[in-house]
Amino acid sequence: MATIQDPKALGTANLAQQEYLSIPISVFQLDHLAHVDLYCKFEGIASPVLYRSAAIPITLRDIEELRDKGHRALYVLSSDYAQLDRSLNESLHDILADSSIAPAERFAILQTAAAMEMDLAFHMIKCDRYVTLSQRIADQITHLLDGENLIPQQLFSVVRHDYYTYTHMINVAGFATLFADLLGIGDPQTRDQITKGALLHDIGKRFIPAKILCKAEALTEDEWQLIKAHPQRGYEDLCHRSDLTTEQLLMVYSHHERCDGEGYPVGLVREEIHPWARLLAIVDVFDAITSARPYRKPMTVSQGLSYLESQSGSHFDPEMVQCWTSAMRQN
Ligand SMILES: [Fe+2]
Repeated sequence: MATIQDPKALGTANLAQQEYLSIPISVFQLDHLAHVDLYCKFEGIASPVLYRSAAIPITLRDIEELRDKGHRALYVLSSDYAQLDRSLNESLHDILADSSIAPAERFAILQTAAAMEMDLAFHMIKCDRYVTLSQRIADQITHLLDGENLIPQQLFSVVRHDYYTYTHMINVAGFATLFADLLGIGDPQTRDQITKGALLHDIGKRFIPAKILCKAEALTEDEWQLIKAHPQRGYEDLCHRSDLTTEQLLMVYSHHERCDGEGYPVGLVREEIHPWARLLAIVDVFDAITSARPYRKPMTVSQGLSYLESQSGSHFDPEMVQCWTSAMRQN
């Protein structure tokens, strides 16, 4: 039975193919949420086990107990997800405006609420719906995070790390928003553009079969060339649009460039790479390496930050690495 931990089930595979989906635990403290069976993962047990049936709703006390034991997420069957998602979206506007819920937790709730819609839009032949959706979600993210002085670690601790494409895109967008703020980049409108660019950055992966993105074995040369083409494909998908700026398109096109010129698609060096793409490269890699991937376990935060530092000046802009790693280490 495939579970969310199954490498074959990760990547851009459609939600409907999953057996279980992880949901941030803060979602379950909300009123008016559909009652569905809830599962919990325990150390040493591969599959989630039933924690509460739909007939016995979870309480705030249960949630506190689970948090105290280190649980960040509960699991629901993918067949129940649509029902949960519908009830969540019905009250999403009120939830996002509810200042009694911490901004990072509202972000995690938004991530959950947006997952199904993003997944559907991402796999459509035309990108229009995904771009429109990205604009709406970017507005919600910037509204939530701007001016909150959130420490990135707070966001990291509540979001999902299971590396579906949409999970990754929303994580990267949240991190990029905080990072732009830390770097003192621009006004809220500019940061909103960065958030939207981050939500779009991997749109070129729509053209790569999920079986290649999820492949646990080494890629063939042809498969690797296909993956390396995704920044160019994404750029071509979006470049005709009048609602995107050149800088946003460069985030899509240049997010796999490296400061030492060894990146793709062009092999640009440091200042030739747009600063928004340099910023994006750091949070893109950071989220990827701290998430479960088909071919390896997630790094811890500490390991992830050490990796970024090991690549400072070669892959990444050194001043930006310094800024992100010191911010992530704040408690
Ligand atoms: Fe990418």
